[in-house]
Amino acid sequence: MKHLIDPTDLSVEETMSIINLALDIIDNRGKYAEKCKGKKLATLFYEPSTRTRLSFTAAMMELGGNVLGFADAASSSVSKGETVRDTVRVVENFADIIAMRHHIEGAQLAATEVSRVPIINAGDGSHAHPTQTLTDLLTITRELGKLDNLTIGFCGDLRFGRTVHSLIKALSRHKNIRIVLIAPPQLRLPDYIKQDVCDRLGLEYKEVDSLEEAMPELDVLYMTRVQKERFLDEDEYEAVKDSFVLDNAKMALAKEKMAVLHPLPRVNEILEEVDSDPRAAYFRQVENGKFVRMALISSLLDWSADAAHTMPEMEEVEVPGHLRCENKKCITRNENSPRRAYRASDGSLRCRYCDHKFK
Ligand code: CP
Repeated sequence: MKHLIDPTDLSVEETMSIINLALDIIDNRGKYAEKCKGKKLATLFYEPSTRTRLSFTAAMMELGGNVLGFADAASSSVSKGETVRDTVRVVENFADIIAMRHHIEGAQLAATEVSRVPIINAGDGSHAHPTQTLTDLLTITRELGKLDNLTIGFCGDLRFGRTVHSLIKALSRHKNIRIVLIAPPQLRLPDYIKQDVCDRLGLEYKEVDSLEEAMPELDVLYMTRVQKERFLDEDEYEAVKDSFVLDNAKMALAKEKMAVLHPLPRVNEILEEVDSDPRAAYFRQVENGKFVRMALISSLLDWSADAAHTMPEMEEVEVPGHLRCENKKCITRNENSPRRAYRASDGSLRCRYCDHKFK
């Protein structure tokens, strides 16, 4: 069975085959109009979404398939206390593939432990968003024609920005990538990404305080929203919410051939005046999300019965009885769940579901 919970669940070859399939879908729409005829996608969204849920829906419709599901957990039996695992055991009777978004980190990995159909992580808390990563990779490919030899700036909320975490992981597998991290001290990239992705895999990175300083060297600027809903303290959010704002004056410092990406929604981190700049790719990125999700759904359905496409082996270690994941938003702290851990490069035990440390 092939699921997509983390971008590295797909090998580089599988990722590129999805990107290439999306490019073929863009050029030959009619060829795929009945690709998933008779198949059903369930969209289980426990957290708000515009782009991801609607692009999954549009993707399945354009493949000739059908869609069922919920956009609000309050309208499902989750509101009566049904667990993620039980919900999946039910929904797999009605659907051939499930896309799930959840505010609890690791919920989708927990779902894979019981599911007989492919599970797609459509975003889990601040942790990961691998289908946005596929969207971003397709967008970079279409805008710049390559996925290597690039300098990519990540700006804004690098702490809670799940799209940033997943894209850095994916880019770490491409050649000659340099990343520039532009964030206030409170919103810097989590240590587990710096240590276990950048340092371990030799991905060159630097942290800077100024967007103006970074602009001239960037091939891609990946802007992000400061995620109000993830802060426990409103004052902390107010202190950082306007840290970096992209405007035409800053765009004037950038290369002529550069692409501005943003997973959206935006609040005020990109002024509307930038939208008409040909380098502003964020609305083209939205459409790419539909094409890449068409390619993903189609591939996972094809691969689900193919022994050549399985999940990567995960090295795990036993967790001593007194330890638990430090992350209150982890599935292991919210639903009855086994504790699963791996040993990080700094020697600490980290939770397999959310990558936080045990304590
Ligand atoms: N990029 C993204 O995940 O957008 P939504 O939250 O609207 O799905």
